[in-house]
Amino acid sequence: MTDPDPKPPRRPRYPGTHPRRFEQKYKELAPEKYPELVEHVRERGMTPAGQHVPILVEEVLAVLAPRPGERGVDCTLGYGGHARRFLERLAPEGTLLGLDVDPLELEKTEARLRALGFGPDALVVRRTNFAGLGAAVFGLGWSDGADFVFADLGVSSMQIDDPSRGFTFKADGPLDMRMHPGKGLSAAEWLARTTREELERALVEHADEPHAERLASALWLHNHELTTTRALVEAVRRALPPRLDEEETTSSIRRVFQALRIQVNDEFGALEALLRQLPACVRPGGRAALLTFHSGEDRRVKHAFAAGVRDGVWSEVNDEVVRASAEERRANPRSAPAKLRWVRRGGAPA
Ligand SMILES: C[S@@+](CC[C@H](N)C(=O)[O-])C[C@H]1O[C@@H](n2cnc3c(N)ncnc32)[C@H](O)[C@@H]1O
Repeated sequence: MTDPDPKPPRRPRYPGTHPRRFEQKYKELAPEKYPELVEHVRERGMTPAGQHVPILVEEVLAVLAPRPGERGVDCTLGYGGHARRFLERLAPEGTLLGLDVDPLELEKTEARLRALGFGPDALVVRRTNFAGLGAAVFGLGWSDGADFVFADLGVSSMQIDDPSRGFTFKADGPLDMRMHPGKGLSAAEWLARTTREELERALVEHADEPHAERLASALWLHNHELTTTRALVEAVRRALPPRLDEEETTSSIRRVFQALRIQVNDEFGALEALLRQLPACVRPGGRAALLTFHSGEDRRVKHAFAAGVRDGVWSEVNDEVVRASAEERRANPRSAPAKLRWVRRGGAPA
């Protein structure tokens, strides 16, 4: 028999007056029920739990200039912040192809965008790595490519802030870090199988870590014990020279996490594949824009765009890198490292 008067589920218990942990922030995680609270969190320069504040949106729209009826590609759908604005500009009759590797967030994002009224003609969603950009674009029958292609690299706030995904050093969780949790090795598994040399190489090449040699030796000695984010943080703290202050220590911890994330998700391999396929995926007269968040990404984009201009693939490239304004940085500190680069193809669409 069903209970005629079911009690509402209890809110999560937490000490004090404010929830601190991600899973305790039940109001932020249900923005449709608590819109004012969510707005308040954003006004304080924080990202509400389970959301992502899109970066350099107006600047991206100015560069890509989506027009009604065009075809666009968002290689990194994330929370759908940029995608929503593209979709508004592409209507009526335009189509946005949205890609993302993360099956957990993609399902929620697609549901949110569909609920805003974007049907299957306006929005096509594919759970795929942007390393397969060409296959996704040509698979839609867009044989001469799209009018614009956009990518906002790295991980979303939903992924970073959820400790169960293992991306954050600020809370304990399994040391996973896979954007697609079903695919490939987790960070803990990779650490347990790698060599000391490989680990050092990842710390240097993916994060320019100045204490790479010392950290690689110490972490590798205990690699089978590093199964949680807290265990990794503590091992890094123990391995660093004692003279470092808290800020320097935190910077090293941040870089170790960044290096492992890039390694586990083969982020540079995927970016290089995207950059190789980009020219064939942009129509004459089309545009491409990429948002990067650290030097390893930015260097690759800058060199690929410059080579494309030299080879006559692109007719125009940004002079200056576009950065977030002081106001945006204040409102969303996660925008501070972002760099926007763009290119255009000559000619007119067929
Ligand atoms: C910074 S977020 C994008 C945020 C989005 N622009 C928004 O407004 O919500 C980056 C997203 O790209 C996805 N991603 C990262 N690397 C990817 C890859 N190689 N292929 C497809 N998606 C990727 C991540 O899963 C994440 O959802």
